[in-house]
Parts: sequence; C-alpha cells; structure tokens
Amino acid sequence: MTELHVHPTAELPSIAAQRICAELDACLADGGTASLCLAGGGTYGPVYRELARQAQLDWSRVEIWFGDERCVPSDDPASNYHMARQTLLDPVAIPAERVHRMHGEDPDRDAAARAYAAALPPRLDLLLLGIGSDGHTASLFPGSAALSAEARVVAVTGPKPPPQRLTITPPVIALARRVIVVAAGEGKAEAVAATLAPTGNLARTPARCARHGCWLVSERIAPR
Ligand code: 6PG
Repeated sequence: MTELHVHPTAELPSIAAQRICAELDACLADGGTASLCLAGGGTYGPVYRELARQAQLDWSRVEIWFGDERCVPSDDPASNYHMARQTLLDPVAIPAERVHRMHGEDPDRDAAARAYAAALPPRLDLLLLGIGSDGHTASLFPGSAALSAEARVVAVTGPKPPPQRLTITPPVIALARRVIVVAAGEGKAEAVAATLAPTGNLARTPARCARHGCWLVSERIAPR
C-alpha cells in the first residue's frame, strides 16, 4: 500500500522540504552520515530551495548522490547537478567531497555508469524521485531495457530531452531505506493513477518501482 499525501500545488515544495528534513534528521540522529540521492527535473528546484531555507542540519554529514543525470557538461543548465548546485548544494555549502555527481559528460557513458555503480552505497538512506507524464521516474522510461538491468546504474537514451542520460535502476530504488516521490505538473494525472493503481505494468509505468515510497502529490493530479 502506497503512502499517499495530497496537497495544494503551492504548498508542495515546503511540505516536501519538511519531510526531507525529518528523514535526514532521523538518519543523522545516530551521529553518523546520511546518503541523500537527488532527483532532477523542474519540480525539485523549488523543493531544494525550500530545503536550503528550512533545514537546520549538519550538511557536512550528508553524502549527496544523484538518481540520474543528463549527458551534458556539469555547468549546462540542463544538468541535474547544475540545478542542485544552484538551489541546494551551494546555498547550504555542502563540502565538495560530500557531493558525488554522475559524470554524464564522459564520452564513454557505459564506463561512467559502471564507475558510479561501483561508488554508490549498497543502500541509500533517502532517495528522492519525480514522475513524468509518461510514467517515467529517474531516467527509467517506458519499455526501457534499463528496467530489467542487473547493473545498478546504466546509460540510456530516452524520449525526454536531453535524450542521453545515466540512471539508477529498479534494484537501487527497491533497496533504498526511504523513498520520497514529489509529483506535480500538468498532464501527470494518468501516470500517477497508473502508478498507484493496485495492478499495473512496470514496463508501461516505470514509476511503479517507487510504489513503496512516500508520495507527495499535487491535488491537481491526485487520483480521484
Ligand atoms: C530528469 C528527472 C526526471 C524528472 C521527471 C519529472 O532528469 O528529468 O530525474 O525523472 O524527475 O521527468 O520532471 P519535472 O519535475 O520537470 O516534471
């Protein structure tokens, strides 16, 4: 059964930031570090800005990972790392050694995927994901071979520009200790409904691999 919370769109960034803070506080309570895996896309920019504004935590104990990355230079506006730097990483001054970006710009994308898979922790403490109108999450697109890949990170070519990407795969999502999905944006109601329906098809709706997460959904696209 999916944990579903429906909120007015305008309140989602703040509510999502509060939940992320609470999860990170719990992870850090034992005095250790926490691994936080970031999502990309437009929904998360406002969430990260709220997180940077709200969070009163020791960011030096947070290890930053990425669920996917576009194969563009790291300073390209389309880069998820670039977006995270602008909205969260720079504002909270996370030490550079705590930030582990995917090297999507590497010409050998398969080697970059293998290297990231080797570095990624066995289990992420907190994984953030979004959803696209076609039901993708991270860069796991409908019908993709990545959905049945054994590797934890793979290179893909998808329909959402920029097409070439690196992405975590379903085993990484399944093993994450906590998953938060923030869903907002026109045209996603059908994808959200197909994801949260009791039965469905992973190949058709890859976001179903995150059904076990905490879903924070805009009331405009929530299942009726
Ligand atoms: C990416 C994201 C992707 C995103 C969804 C939603 O790199 O594009 O990781 O999975 O979360 O496509 O994107 P929006 O928030 O822009 O609708």
